[in-house]
Amino acid sequence: MTVTIGADIARAAAILKSGGLVAFPTETVYGLGADARDAAAVGRIFAAKGRPADHPVIVHLADAAQLADWSCDVTPLAKKLAARFWPGPLTLILRRAAGVGDFVTGGQDTVGLRVPSHPVAAALLRAFDGGLAAPSANRFGRVSTTTAAHVAQELGERVDYVLDGGASEIGIESTIIDATGEHPVLLRPGHLSVEDIEAASGLAVQAPQHNAPRVSGALAAHYAPATTLLLLEADLVLELAATLARQGKRTAVLARSARQPLLEGLAWVAAPADASGYAHDLYANLRMLDGAGCEVILVEQPPLTVEWAAVNDRLMRAAAGSRGSAS
Ligand code: TXA
Ligand code: MG
Repeated sequence: MTVTIGADIARAAAILKSGGLVAFPTETVYGLGADARDAAAVGRIFAAKGRPADHPVIVHLADAAQLADWSCDVTPLAKKLAARFWPGPLTLILRRAAGVGDFVTGGQDTVGLRVPSHPVAAALLRAFDGGLAAPSANRFGRVSTTTAAHVAQELGERVDYVLDGGASEIGIESTIIDATGEHPVLLRPGHLSVEDIEAASGLAVQAPQHNAPRVSGALAAHYAPATTLLLLEADLVLELAATLARQGKRTAVLARSARQPLLEGLAWVAAPADASGYAHDLYANLRMLDGAGCEVILVEQPPLTVEWAAVNDRLMRAAAGSRGSAS
């Protein structure tokens, strides 16, 4: 890792000002940034990712004082959550202000807003002095990136500049809360749990209605490696790995409790036992196992408890996406 310095930040801000794309670290995952007021620049994000143009992108801000530039209705709920969790891994969906482009909102009347805490992201946002549209820095539907090297692998020449801030501390994307109404509505689970949101707001978190805003990270198939991924109980992981080994097939395993068996052709990763550690390593582990030339990736199912909700959400979508459904 190269340490990012002031000159790198200044260069990145200048590229963004002239309509270019800069990938930058956040505490959740790396983002692919462009000037959120510049339709052509945001259009280049969609082209680089291969993402459908009607999907909204999150606008990143230096601090909550800028909320009013982007939302015409900063609800009491939003103020409370922003005060408690920003800077940090929370995205708030709010009514958009006049002049916030359809190219950012996907044509909806809401906008996603987040103040990231990573020091490099914070310095970049201060230097740029405006909102940065930034989806996760990966090809559409694929595994998100948590290091600068993974961004380079994933996007190569499609991005003008990559700021290196080391490995993202959290490792999975922000919790997304629709804060347009009185009650918080959970659109995407993340590091901040339903309990965290309920404790901070004093309100029950609700599930989205059918007409809820679109969240592409909530598509059934997303965050997927190219290799088929199966989510299984520990004993089934071991059984299937043994069967595949007998057939001379290479198998990748992301294990939790299961002990590595003595088998030919295994690519084995023992994931951290706790949910935060597991999330921190998740995308790097999937990327590594995906590159191991195996027939299949077997993932040992983590516990189905609230603590593991965000990890299980990403694993289920990765399993759905790897089987070639929409992404
Ligand atoms: O942690 C994160 O949120 C990372 C970092 C880079 O900040 N960003 C991220 O962006 O995950 P992306 O585009 O990969 O996922 C953002 C999600 C998308 O699923 C998008 O549909 C949703 O946020 N979103 C953005 N604006 C929205 C809106 N106005 N209404 C509903 N969903 C929205
Ligand atoms: Mg994404």
